[in-house]
Amino acid sequence: MNEVAEWIQEAFEFITEKSKRNVKVIGSQFPHASMDKKYQLEPASWWTAGFWPGVLWNLYAQTQEDSFLKTARACEDKMAVLLSDVETLDHDIGFMWTLTSVADYKITGSKTARQTALLAANLLAARYNIAGNFIRAWNPWYEGDKNCGIAIIDCMMNLPLLYWASEETRDPRFKHIAVQHATMTEREFIRQDGSVFHMVNFDPETGDVIEKLGGQGFSNESSWARGGAWAIYGMALTYKFTRNTIFINAAKNTTKYFLDQLKDAPYPVWDFKVPDNTSNTRYDYPDSSAAAIAACGLLCLADIVEDVPSAQDYKFQAESILKRLYYTCGTRDDQEEQGLLRHGTGHFPEQKNLDVPLIYGDYFFVEGITRLMGQSISFW
Ligand code: GLY
Repeated sequence: MNEVAEWIQEAFEFITEKSKRNVKVIGSQFPHASMDKKYQLEPASWWTAGFWPGVLWNLYAQTQEDSFLKTARACEDKMAVLLSDVETLDHDIGFMWTLTSVADYKITGSKTARQTALLAANLLAARYNIAGNFIRAWNPWYEGDKNCGIAIIDCMMNLPLLYWASEETRDPRFKHIAVQHATMTEREFIRQDGSVFHMVNFDPETGDVIEKLGGQGFSNESSWARGGAWAIYGMALTYKFTRNTIFINAAKNTTKYFLDQLKDAPYPVWDFKVPDNTSNTRYDYPDSSAAAIAACGLLCLADIVEDVPSAQDYKFQAESILKRLYYTCGTRDDQEEQGLLRHGTGHFPEQKNLDVPLIYGDYFFVEGITRLMGQSISFW
């Protein structure tokens, strides 16, 4: 095995120590964004619920520290009851149960975790709209909200739950749905230059595309950085499970775009095409979470591309991003701050969680660092 660089070991120790402290104060609750150094909590049904237990499963796999397993399991138990109420759950079932029950099953072989994850996969598969070949994103946000034709780029990261279910049951139904959704995403969401739309609105009866939207990005023609990162990692994972070249080409195209925009910066602005700040509005908020997700996508690409120089280059770029994140955003100098990475932006259009630690930024940073430490189990 290659020797692990000193900065990676140091980053891993920082993550492990802070997470041990967080286990004592956060316990089996569901953190989202850190304000004034403390993670704000969400209900177990919020899309971010899997990331904190996901951090703990990654660390448990590396350390076998019992408190990580116990806390992750306690989160999983609280979430399991949600599976009997489909109206509280949306397509983020994938994020939520991949990083809890699938992770648990892959690490411990728990039969209960397997059953829970298979139930979650069935509910995700049931959101597939056969007319438009898309997985429906959300449930109505308010009385009368007609959003059953909406698909979003983030869903690429929900598909691994379906690939896992097909492998586990030796039944390709789940995979067929995932591949149809990914094929639609490659066609409708990814622009020629490698940037992406956040949302596509379909007519849910006919499956026709009605409009393509910027969603959490600045505008319909702009380029939401985290959406680009979801596309990189999601397309790389779909290639890993299908070996269909359209998906590796999509992963490479979105990666090139992201890296060309990022250059040597540790993290991007939350949207690659924001206007300059005006006296009334600040637009240039950072998003470290996008960089952490993209870095994990690059590590995945490094594992799956066949030509060795490209694989080495993806690995080099991933390490370089994670190192820049660690030194620029890592909260090593602040014991009180619960978040691991500063400078994430949650939702600029709603002016929520701007320039703060975000649990999904933390999660992908932990995934990246544990991968560099030699962790071989992928939860996705
Ligand atoms: N999946 C929502 C987000 O990335 O903010």
